[in-house]
Amino acid sequence: MSTSRTGPSPALRASELDRFSAYRAGEGGRRDAADEILDLSNNEVMISPLPAVAEALRRIGTDVNLYPDPTAHTLRLRLAEHFGAGAEETLVGPGSAGVLQQLLLVLCGAGDEVLYAWPGFDAYPLLIAVSGARGVPVPLTASGDHDLPRLLEKVNSRTRAVILCSPHNPTGSRITRPALRRFLDGLPSHVVAVLDQAYTEFDAEEDQRDLTPIRDYGNVVLLRTFSKAHGLAGLRVGYAFASAEIVHRARKTVIPFSITRTGERAAVASLQQQEALTARIATIRRLRGALEDDLGAEGLVPTPSAGNFVWLPLGPSSERFAASALEAGVRVRAYADMGVRISVGTEQAHRRVLLAARRHRSG
Ligand SMILES: Cc1ncc(COP(=O)(O)O)c(C=O)c1O
Repeated sequence: MSTSRTGPSPALRASELDRFSAYRAGEGGRRDAADEILDLSNNEVMISPLPAVAEALRRIGTDVNLYPDPTAHTLRLRLAEHFGAGAEETLVGPGSAGVLQQLLLVLCGAGDEVLYAWPGFDAYPLLIAVSGARGVPVPLTASGDHDLPRLLEKVNSRTRAVILCSPHNPTGSRITRPALRRFLDGLPSHVVAVLDQAYTEFDAEEDQRDLTPIRDYGNVVLLRTFSKAHGLAGLRVGYAFASAEIVHRARKTVIPFSITRTGERAAVASLQQQEALTARIATIRRLRGALEDDLGAEGLVPTPSAGNFVWLPLGPSSERFAASALEAGVRVRAYADMGVRISVGTEQAHRRVLLAARRHRSG
């Protein structure tokens, strides 16, 4: 028998989640063959996997009837060895978004607060709500940087975590190591700082990637991914470095078998390809620099970016720019009344962005 009902189902408790829609990326990585729109709205890397990774993927057989190693032991050991961390300080999960969810589930719950800079990665508010905690967004400064003093001011006895992001999505700004240190010195020990480093490989400042923050502070997590520089977004592999205590607890929240054998093998192969990875990163940095210069020459000056994307702080005309870009055959991501984020792509895609810039200026 079916009954018609109005109002919320009695089976669903009120939740922080009720305030948000389900996650959707820009256009979900869609490639539109019909109208040949080039997609620069998702911060994906436009180059196929590194050669050894493609080879590893080819060698993966059809043993999909078997579960993968639930601990992703091989990858965990390789990451620890590669970055000079202990295995007990290394956490692996299904994408860095998955790892962040694992961390938030052990760090906080109902009644707690998590601070983050906004605009930021769209998944933060949702993942915080999944943990039951309340997200507290803190606006970026006018220059697109984290407002670190304001974030510290917002810390109270309910705060359990602060998510920082460097290079920051969407502005590409970096938190320098001295600024991070000052922030961490002022952060009470009951609050964990999760530093999202999804784009760190694109940052030319070498010291951004060392593990000193987890050596010097017990309440820091460095969150990383194979989705960006390694170009494995479709395989969902992320990782983090933190104290053994945090890692030990967070490992218990992983969805069993959520790191696939394919993902683990591809990540292991990619990690061994440092020379090819370095060359790819150099190409992306060069393309980023050229895009920044060319946009500047059109009178639209991006803020300095350390990521694989650039940020045009266009304020109220951001959506108009995105519409011009679409007309020129390229999809970019507009943040209403704030700016436009353009992923570094191919030279062809960049020519379309410049065409849009010209039209935007004259329109
Ligand atoms: C800042 C930031 N963190 C994390 C992610 C998610 O990465 P992953 O594919 O590792 O889940 C993204 C994706 O765009 C991102 O922009």
